Amino acid sequence: MSIHPLPPPKAPTGLGRLPVARWFVLIGVLAGVTFAAGVAIVMTLSTRAEALHPPPELAAQLDRLNAALIVVFALLLALGVGLAAMVRYAVLKPIDQLTAQVRTVAGGDFDHDLHVDRPAELAELSSHIDSMRARIVSAWRVATDQTEELRRSNGELEQFAYVASHDLQEPLRKVASFTQMLEQRYGPQLDERARQYIHYAVDGAKRMQLLINDLLDFSRVGRVTGEKGEVDSGALLERALENLSATLEDAEATVTHDELPRINGNELQLTQLFQNLIENAVKFRSEEPPRVHIGVRRDGDRWEFSCSDNGIGVEHKYADRIFLIFQRLHPRDVYPGTGIGLALCRKIVEYHGGQLWLDGDSDGHGATFRWTIPASGGEG
Ligand SMILES: Nc1ncnc2c1ncn2[C@@H]1O[C@H](COP(=O)(O)OP(=O)(O)OP(=O)(O)O)[C@@H](O)[C@H]1O
Ligand SMILES: [Mg+2]
Repeated sequence: MSIHPLPPPKAPTGLGRLPVARWFVLIGVLAGVTFAAGVAIVMTLSTRAEALHPPPELAAQLDRLNAALIVVFALLLALGVGLAAMVRYAVLKPIDQLTAQVRTVAGGDFDHDLHVDRPAELAELSSHIDSMRARIVSAWRVATDQTEELRRSNGELEQFAYVASHDLQEPLRKVASFTQMLEQRYGPQLDERARQYIHYAVDGAKRMQLLINDLLDFSRVGRVTGEKGEVDSGALLERALENLSATLEDAEATVTHDELPRINGNELQLTQLFQNLIENAVKFRSEEPPRVHIGVRRDGDRWEFSCSDNGIGVEHKYADRIFLIFQRLHPRDVYPGTGIGLALCRKIVEYHGGQLWLDGDSDGHGATFRWTIPASGGEG
């Protein structure tokens, strides 16, 4: 299982900067010094008292007091040594063990068990941490498997769309051209109704050809036209505008733009992105001559582009639907098109590691589409 390198642990603050073991040593040394000083003072005092040649009864009491003090000091010493051993083996050592185990897990060996038997508090803590580790690892494995499965089935679907649309082109061309030939050759022998049927058949075949071509373009994104490099998005916009020059002129459209950055991407796809969005902005225009603006702003480590127009706008409830393949909001005789433009744009943007969405604030006053593209390294 692969992991990202973990960040270094946070530095402790205040008195916590000194490890617990050092605290114990420090306090142990202080207790030892106090203990030794206590013994020395008591010994000195009792020697001085004996030097005064006390009466025999007082001397006997002093001897008993000395004996009692020796027993008390010996007991204190034994208790001190016992406490130090207990702290060392029952607290510090298990903490070290647990720390080493946690470090191993944090370093990437997520199957490493976390377990200490004592003391009870640490045993409970380690068991909770271990069950948390096990649950996270199993959830992570399920997610990894599902991602892999999704990637595989996505690849299969793309392959299917590509093969189907590619292989369907030829038979469809045949249907369309032979139906047209039928009309041309036997037209005079056919009645009006038969000619109308042939017209419907040709129309249907042509439309299907358009859909299949669009599907083919869609399935090509990232498969056939994939290479990325540093590109000047301003130059790509100019190219898209050139491709649309006739449409823009007919509609008397004005397209303005901010100063556009250099980004890392695929020239063909990004040109197509600008072209589709501007084409929509002009196609779905209102009474006024279309005005389109391509904006850009830096947002952290990515660029956020926008394409806003003064057209008929999109009701917010359709904000998701319009990005689905072949989904349109208007009949074909009012606004021509197959409904693949935005699906293609979203696929292109996602292929570049960004997101494309309809801005929610532009209801009724034209439409604004926004998309992000990660800023390429070294570009500011
Ligand atoms: N700028 C816009 N203003 C208003 N509606 C829009 C705009 N862009 C897209 N739409 C709506 O979203 C739908 C989907 O757009 P999309 O570009 O996918 O398809 P299309 O333009 O109808 O067909 P195609 O792009 O395949 O020629 C459009 O049919 C239209 O209803
Ligand atoms: Mg379109």
